[in-house]
Amino acid sequence: MCGIVGYVGHRPALGVVVEALRRMEYRGYDSAGVAILGEDGKLAVERRAGSPQVLVDALADHDPAEFAGTAGIGHTRWATHGRPTDRNAHPHRDATGEFAVVHNGIIENFIPLRAELEAAGIELESDTDSEVAAHLVALAYAEGPTAGDFVASVRSVLQRLEGAFTLVFAHAGHPDTIVAARRSTPLVIGVGEGEMFLGSDVAAFIEHTREAVELGQDQVVVITADGYKVTDFFGGEDVEIRPFTIDWDLKAAEKGGYNYFMLKEIQEQPQAVAETLMGHLVDGEIILDEQRLSAQDLRDIDKVFVVACGTAYHSGLVAKYAIEHWTRLPVEVELASEFRYRDPVLGQNTLVVAISQSGETADTLEAVRHAKDQGARVLAVCNTNGAQIPREADAVLYTRAGPEIGVASTKCFLAQVTANYLVGLALAQARGTKYQDEIMREFAELEAMPELIEKVLGTLDPVRALARELKDSPAVLFVGRHVGYPVALEGALKLKELAYMHAEGFAAGELKHGPIALLEDGLPVFVVMPSPKGRAVLHSKMLSNIREIQARGARTIVIAEEGDELVRPFADHLIEIPACPTLLQPLLSTVPLQAFAAELAEAKGYDVDKPRNLAKAVVVE
Ligand code: M6R
Repeated sequence: MCGIVGYVGHRPALGVVVEALRRMEYRGYDSAGVAILGEDGKLAVERRAGSPQVLVDALADHDPAEFAGTAGIGHTRWATHGRPTDRNAHPHRDATGEFAVVHNGIIENFIPLRAELEAAGIELESDTDSEVAAHLVALAYAEGPTAGDFVASVRSVLQRLEGAFTLVFAHAGHPDTIVAARRSTPLVIGVGEGEMFLGSDVAAFIEHTREAVELGQDQVVVITADGYKVTDFFGGEDVEIRPFTIDWDLKAAEKGGYNYFMLKEIQEQPQAVAETLMGHLVDGEIILDEQRLSAQDLRDIDKVFVVACGTAYHSGLVAKYAIEHWTRLPVEVELASEFRYRDPVLGQNTLVVAISQSGETADTLEAVRHAKDQGARVLAVCNTNGAQIPREADAVLYTRAGPEIGVASTKCFLAQVTANYLVGLALAQARGTKYQDEIMREFAELEAMPELIEKVLGTLDPVRALARELKDSPAVLFVGRHVGYPVALEGALKLKELAYMHAEGFAAGELKHGPIALLEDGLPVFVVMPSPKGRAVLHSKMLSNIREIQARGARTIVIAEEGDELVRPFADHLIEIPACPTLLQPLLSTVPLQAFAAELAEAKGYDVDKPRNLAKAVVVE
């Protein structure tokens, strides 16, 4: 995904746009660029491969008067089409240099459009799909039915584009106007006093205004300093808008004294879990945030699919254990990227739970659309108010983790796991598989978790020391059973994405079916132990597994409940976590693994917040 910014107002636009790009950097950091509209009818553009800081350094070589205008657009890129080079950086311009565009998403039919432009004698200077949009708008503005009309020219081009895109256009002839449009990728309007903002998310303008409007699917917005106008792509009709007030402040999007956002976000987990629970038990009833399904619809559900990607998928694996246990409904957990291609059997009594921090992951969004096409009901678990996935869902439960800037998901994972438990309880309530007092007891146990997470956070120094010690290890393995299995997968994913290390998570029972061959002297293996007071059989099977691991000379790093004396003799390194109900243990056992990965990446000198090749949300399939 990329970060997109627009501004029209009374201040010099360059500062506002560059600051917004810094806040959007987590969305992509392959290149950055700006286009500033001058009163003199000129468009000043600078763009560079690298982070927004590289752009700022390049801007220092320009005459400041060139970039003094009060309207402009900006972009920070995560490369899809074309390598991250200066010439592929946005903004892209048309041949006259009068139109500039920034783009997030993918224009799927760019190859025929590019061929059409080339056939018309236009030379494209980048390898991107985005550049075609600038040329097409310039052509539409130059002649034909939309000639001389900026907004109509943009609208006519939008109708030719396929794929998922947010596009923001500036035109030298309109120094006080920015035109933008969105289909499936996000854009939010920030409403200030005598100034208007556009951003891929609200972090772009939170320091200037908390009043915002979510741009809907297939909508166009025109901003000037005095206001904004939202219409649809096609007929240019006015559409209903959804204004909202942002309920977090600038501090939430800043590092607050930590070296990395991820460290701050790990520390914020007790609050993320507590806030996700808040307000969801009213008069003994579990309440969702948005509910467009009737009680009967929920009662009729006879099958649940959970669809998600990456870390969100791991949270979905945890959900399976809880939902099946509490509701006796069959639950399948699917990678969203696989779901719709294997022709899943869905009907109106199927509930598809789509989990996504960003609410804009393309694979998950397409899985939602496929589910809805087949008549299934969709419940979204999302951290981003008004994002596309919750907009298209029949019911929504928001995780209230606040902005997660670190690319590696931490607090959102714990918040997703928490929200998934609430989904399980809501279904149990609707189906009557749990009495009200049982639901209240489960909820009370959840409410006790933030304090226990806080305790775990206070004991992480030895984990960090271990990470530094193991920094040159060639690989690390993770094993768990039951809800410890998704924790093992998540521990491995964190280490891969942050420390670029070979890391694998396995179901402990699978070890002897192959992966045990990987074990050798000194190889670090994290073992996530279930509670000895939970299901005795799980604990004793894990004890057998850990013996098998130790017998092959591997180094066991055991996450176990305080007071678990049976496992102590088999742990080369013991990480103790407080006792809690079996199903809720991932809220504790994941935390040391997050800290381990962050510390190890830091020890290797890697950028913990911006791991290579990754972006915070993947809006292309
Ligand atoms: O925004 P989403 O929750 O849909 O994102 C899903 C994954 O892309 C995301 O969890 C990814 O795996 C994270 N980088 C993991 O830390």
